[in-house]
Amino acid sequence: MTAMTQSTDAQFWDRAARKYAQSKISDMEAYQTTMARTRAHLAASDRVFELGCGTSSTALLLAPDVAHVTASDISAEMIEIGKEKVWDGGIRNVTPVQGVIGDPGLDGPFDVILAFNLLHLVPDPEATIARAFAQLPSGGRFISKTPCMAGKRWIFAPLIAGLRLFGRAPTHVHLFRTDSLERMISDTGFEIVETGDYPRRMPSHFVVARKP
Ligand SMILES: C[S@@+](CC[C@H](N)C(=O)[O-])C[C@H]1O[C@@H](n2cnc3c(N)ncnc32)[C@H](O)[C@@H]1O
Repeated sequence: MTAMTQSTDAQFWDRAARKYAQSKISDMEAYQTTMARTRAHLAASDRVFELGCGTSSTALLLAPDVAHVTASDISAEMIEIGKEKVWDGGIRNVTPVQGVIGDPGLDGPFDVILAFNLLHLVPDPEATIARAFAQLPSGGRFISKTPCMAGKRWIFAPLIAGLRLFGRAPTHVHLFRTDSLERMISDTGFEIVETGDYPRRMPSHFVVARKP
């Protein structure tokens, strides 16, 4: 990612952060299923690295199940809100950090890498997945959930283009199909061990992958 793209993306999410922090989870059942299926692949000794953590809500929820979560995000404002939550909650095993995968100092070691609602937003999803693969040991898990909007491209492509004109959509929004997303993950070298759609409509595609 060029420094220019990174700063444009970060500025968009910085502007969105306080409102994002106030927004409610749109489908609580789907979120809870995602958390339950994620926990099924976590161990108490795991060192977790979350990409695109937003305001660290998910990191805080999963923290009791693991040893430590490094919760990273491109947006300084999202990370600031995450730090406030960590401080207010007296949480000791979550560290919110501004940055993107591959940045110096964000190189582990980690046992699990999480990416929820992120891969469709990064400039180069293959490169992000490849970096996750490189950072994990054998047996490490890459757990992601990604909106796959290709089936409704005719709605989303013009909608996103229109919103972008007014600065209301991020620079990159990939309209994935679930099968092409899975292929992207397995082509990197991961074995896919579980998939699901939570929710089924749109769908938001959950993938648990393991480094052989
Ligand atoms: C839709 S929000 C999802 C936040 C959180 N993971 C969740 O599921 O609620 C996307 C997040 O990804 C971050 N982001 C966008 N592009 C990124 C990138 N290239 N690397 C890291 N984080 C990024 C944004 O700042 C934002 O916090």
